[in-house]
Amino acid sequence: MSEPHIPQKAPYVVEVVAGKKYFWCRCGQSRQQPFCDGSHKGSPFTPLEWQAPKNQQAFFCGCKHSNTAPLCDGTHKSL
Ligand code: FES
Ligand code: FES
Repeated sequence: MSEPHIPQKAPYVVEVVAGKKYFWCRCGQSRQQPFCDGSHKGSPFTPLEWQAPKNQQAFFCGCKHSNTAPLCDGTHKSL
């Protein structure tokens, strides 16, 4: 299994809108982090769809190693 690129070892904080779908970049190659811009093409990675449950600040994983992707779970601290 290929390892994802690590854009940053910290989450991206985004204001999300209730009910809206977001496509989190799993490969780490997108230039529009934390979201997919299609750069994964030709790799084994695909984006992860996530729907915001409410209007909130979301902490999207920037290290691409979270066990609760697409959201940060603190794993970046041990990379
Ligand atoms: Fe990374 Fe699409 S660009 S998953
Ligand atoms: Fe990936 Fe926190 S940024 S777990």
